[in-house]
Amino acid sequence: MFENQAPSGPSTLFAKDIFKGRVAVVTGGAGAVCASLCGMLANHGCDIVCADQEQQRVDEVVARVRDAGRIGLPVVTDLTTTKGMDELKQAALKKFSRVDILVNGLGENLNSWGAFEESNEATWQALYEINLLNVFRACHHFIPVMKEQGWGRILSFSSVEGIRASPWLAVYTAFKRAVDAFTKSIAVDVARHGILVNALALDKVRAYQSNFYELPDEYLRLVETWIPAGRYGEPADAAAVALYLLSPANSWIVGQTVVADGGTLAAGGWYRTTKRWTNQPLLVQHLESPEINETRPKPLQ
Ligand SMILES: NC(=O)c1ccc[n+]([C@@H]2O[C@H](COP(=O)([O-])OP(=O)(O)OC[C@H]3O[C@@H](n4cnc5c(N)ncnc54)[C@H](O)[C@@H]3O)[C@@H](O)[C@H]2O)c1
Repeated sequence: MFENQAPSGPSTLFAKDIFKGRVAVVTGGAGAVCASLCGMLANHGCDIVCADQEQQRVDEVVARVRDAGRIGLPVVTDLTTTKGMDELKQAALKKFSRVDILVNGLGENLNSWGAFEESNEATWQALYEINLLNVFRACHHFIPVMKEQGWGRILSFSSVEGIRASPWLAVYTAFKRAVDAFTKSIAVDVARHGILVNALALDKVRAYQSNFYELPDEYLRLVETWIPAGRYGEPADAAAVALYLLSPANSWIVGQTVVADGGTLAAGGWYRTTKRWTNQPLLVQHLESPEINETRPKPLQ
């Protein structure tokens, strides 16, 4: 049987020089998915501007890019601020005089779980800055550069949580869905300049902000209940989709939100138990346990 595993050899995905001569600016570039993406892009010939607030992880990504024989430029800054984003633009253009690819990887729910009526404006503002405003600023900076070059790729990370409901994360979901709407409208406007803009909606990919889904061993058997693909996504699973959307191989996907989630959105509330599928997950214990099953009310005749 073939197992559905994360891509292990990024350099084999496309021809090694498919991004040769291209420069990519990656925000949140030291995050789990975008660090993997920076490595894949570099392995395919791309030079990288890795922007993130975590100095040590930025240095690691840049070292990986340089090991691949490409130029890696570190930019360590707070990307939720105008100052940080201006700094990124200046550093990228000073070093390379061009930017072909923009990856808006920055985004987080900031652990803002809770009933909406108990949330406050400071949290809404912080969620706005980290999930949406930075996307506006980055696109505003780099679209003119790409227009002048006559070629570009922009990919913004949204979320499956912006497509389905995510109770207790209402404001986060609103900004993630806004990324999709913004993507659609600018994509239609700039496509004729050779700039293709898309979004990537993720779910269940191991990352810093989800603590890599580290769980006690007794919960591991439940992963197949939650995720149709039967495992958590690795950063490379998501990065490989991004790599395609950013590459010249993608010439016709415009303004779309591509979902990469191991099937959670398609499952739409259906869960696999050890014995069957259910859309009533609180019954999982009954369906799995013969003793408890005995106590279930019998169906009406
Ligand atoms: N992993 C998933 O399953 C999942 C699900 C839904 C959406 N997403 C989205 O995918 C994108 C990639 O994230 P990831 O999953 O790799 O997460 P991650 O937590 O691994 O990476 C996020 C990165 O952003 C950086 N960052 C945070 N605040 C910053 C700031 N103010 N300035 C500069 N850098 C800052 C962090 O240092 C980190 O390196 C995000 O937009 C996220 O919302 C991921």
